[in-house]
Amino acid sequence: MGKVAWKEVKAVRAFRTKGPCLTTKAREGHVGAKRLNNYFIRKPGLFFLSPLKSNPPFIFITFVPLIFKPMGSLLEQLDLERLPQHIAIIMDGNGRWAKEQGQDRLYGHYHGVESVRNIVEGSAELGVKYLTLYAFSTENWDRPIEEVTGLMELLVDTIRKETAILNKNNIRLHVIGDTNMLPDYAKKELQESLDELKNNTGLNLIMALSYSSRWEIVNAIKNIAADVKTGKLQPFEIDQDTIKDYLTTREFPDPELMIRTSGEYRISNFLLYQLAYAELYFTNVRWPDFRKENLYEAILDFQKRERRFGKTGEQLKPEEQITQS
Ligand code: FPP
Repeated sequence: MGKVAWKEVKAVRAFRTKGPCLTTKAREGHVGAKRLNNYFIRKPGLFFLSPLKSNPPFIFITFVPLIFKPMGSLLEQLDLERLPQHIAIIMDGNGRWAKEQGQDRLYGHYHGVESVRNIVEGSAELGVKYLTLYAFSTENWDRPIEEVTGLMELLVDTIRKETAILNKNNIRLHVIGDTNMLPDYAKKELQESLDELKNNTGLNLIMALSYSSRWEIVNAIKNIAADVKTGKLQPFEIDQDTIKDYLTTREFPDPELMIRTSGEYRISNFLLYQLAYAELYFTNVRWPDFRKENLYEAILDFQKRERRFGKTGEQLKPEEQITQS
């Protein structure tokens, strides 16, 4: 996790809140933020505007800034006061990405790890409080054995290797899902990482591992029924908060933004109860290509939406439109 980038985002925050009365440190940091990740191509098609070829300096001065857009500017467009506090992501498209490269599926998962790193870092830098990543579904156990074994090893290995860096960045790890299904080595190594990171107070990184929403809901109902049977809970006491308390996500607020990569428009058994009022964002970008700037785009899109929670637009005060009551 880049310390410099973290400083830069903090400086952008200071710039936003303090305006022109910046400390030298913040001002230096702000300049750094503009350098962030250099440049990326926005509209290469503009190269083909032939009438303008007659005047190259004019083309350069007028159009090059349109073609190469500084990355920092996407970040600067974000309203850091109105970030979704919980973002959930379905990391889809690893297999297709690998196939497009003429490689096998595990190659896609391997490159997907780079995106995980980048998005965890980006979320922590912004100050997002909760990030849930759908890493392995209950249904994924039915994939070919080589893929399941390879993916499991990759997941556990990555978490172990990244634990020190997560710790340095004050990131706490949580795992939701039917972890009893995991092989013993995976359970042991995961537990070690969970213990090591349990006192951290920054970003809460929630890995959905061997998770499916229907499994979770069935489990919750079984536990509620058991508690009713023993008299710990009365049927008339059951309300929405009770249900929340029996879900694996009981410690976390519901996601406000759910992102799915790779062009599929489904929720695929992911946080069905918790996503009731989430804003859904779908992108064609395959997960191994998904980077911070794509995350910023999703958040910008989220910030443009009016969140009504069943009310009318007129009933909402401006400050209620993004933050959930
Ligand atoms: C879905 O793509 C992706 C997965 C089932 C696995 C996601 C796992 C990673 C990105 C590795 C993450 C590592 C950590 C530490 C969390 P797919 O295989 O369904 O792709 P396809 O739809 O193109 O076939």
